[in-house]
Amino acid sequence: MLRRPETIIVMLVFSIAMTFVSGLQAEAKSKMQKKSFGKTEDGQPVDLYILTNKNGMESAITNYGGTVVSLIVPDRNGKREDVVLGYDNLAGYATGKAYIGATVGRYANRIAHATFTLDSTTYTLAKNDGDNHLHGGFNKRVWTAKDVSSSAGQALELTYLSKDGEEGFPGTLPVKVVYTLTDQNELKIDYSATTDKDTILNLTNHAYFNLAGQGNGDILQQQIMIRADKFTPIDATSIPTGELRSVKGTPFDFTNSIAIGVRIDQDDQQLKLGRGYDHNWVLNNGTPGSLFLAAQAYDPHSGRVLEVLTTEPGIQLYTGNFLDGIHGKDGKVYNRRYAFCLETQHFPDSPNHPNFPSAELKPGQHFQSTTVYKFTTK
Ligand code: GLA
Repeated sequence: MLRRPETIIVMLVFSIAMTFVSGLQAEAKSKMQKKSFGKTEDGQPVDLYILTNKNGMESAITNYGGTVVSLIVPDRNGKREDVVLGYDNLAGYATGKAYIGATVGRYANRIAHATFTLDSTTYTLAKNDGDNHLHGGFNKRVWTAKDVSSSAGQALELTYLSKDGEEGFPGTLPVKVVYTLTDQNELKIDYSATTDKDTILNLTNHAYFNLAGQGNGDILQQQIMIRADKFTPIDATSIPTGELRSVKGTPFDFTNSIAIGVRIDQDDQQLKLGRGYDHNWVLNNGTPGSLFLAAQAYDPHSGRVLEVLTTEPGIQLYTGNFLDGIHGKDGKVYNRRYAFCLETQHFPDSPNHPNFPSAELKPGQHFQSTTVYKFTTK
């Protein structure tokens, strides 16, 4: 079809205008806000980065511990609320013991007797949970931040160089965490690392969720679904026994969505050992390393739905059993079971269980792990 020159000019002007508008949008996307979050005791400045998306979702992340400080999500009526626990200021994070919102490593969860053997060398780690090692110290480090926003959404890159021998772990380990807030209401977390010596690595995020809003009561009526037919039972010190036990007929069966509180106080030996749920589930991911819908949480009152997707083989459901009146954000007090965590991970104590997926990382290998928290309503 032949077009008149005027029509062609109009089309050209229109397409130039559209390019300009989408350029502006891309620029708006890249304008992440940055605020001071204070200074550490030894004088290092720390910042708070505010990521937003076009749906009014917002997340504040600090480079102290690579920590998610807030995550503001609409409910089924569009009411925005902060669905993660946190502290108002840096001092809370610096003195806090519950890893609230933090990037956890080098080894997420426990290592029995704080020791493991790799290539016939035995390594001794810091004992920070009775006789065991728990969660490492990445949550108390200052990370280097960089705005890496793109068309995928506002994104914050955090890097940290963990030195050979830090907390007893072998190998110099440059580690990177990228948080991206997408317009699909996802907070995506990409972890990567390399090492110069054989080592072990297990990274997670320790967000404490309450889909009814942080500090707004307990989470016992919120529902959880976990796509796992097995879990790893624990001993009296919360170390896996090594068994992969079927969830069938137990309070650990979350294959169908069920409220957390329905079975949490049942007379069950595993629940007693964890003082509630504090266990690792073996995800039914038939293609290890691919992104898999691992779990879903739902709050019937607000209608908020959280989907957790991960490339990791396991997930820890922790029901805030040790929260004991922590003074959190906006004057809220966090009591027992006021939040749940869904920590994507390699299984706890993997280095001491050859039957668990290996958490080893060797020189020349590129560690890569992704977890997505996606929010919808129903
Ligand atoms: C993890 C552990 C819990 C507890 C919390 C932090 O979820 O499995 O036992 O240590 O972290 O308090």
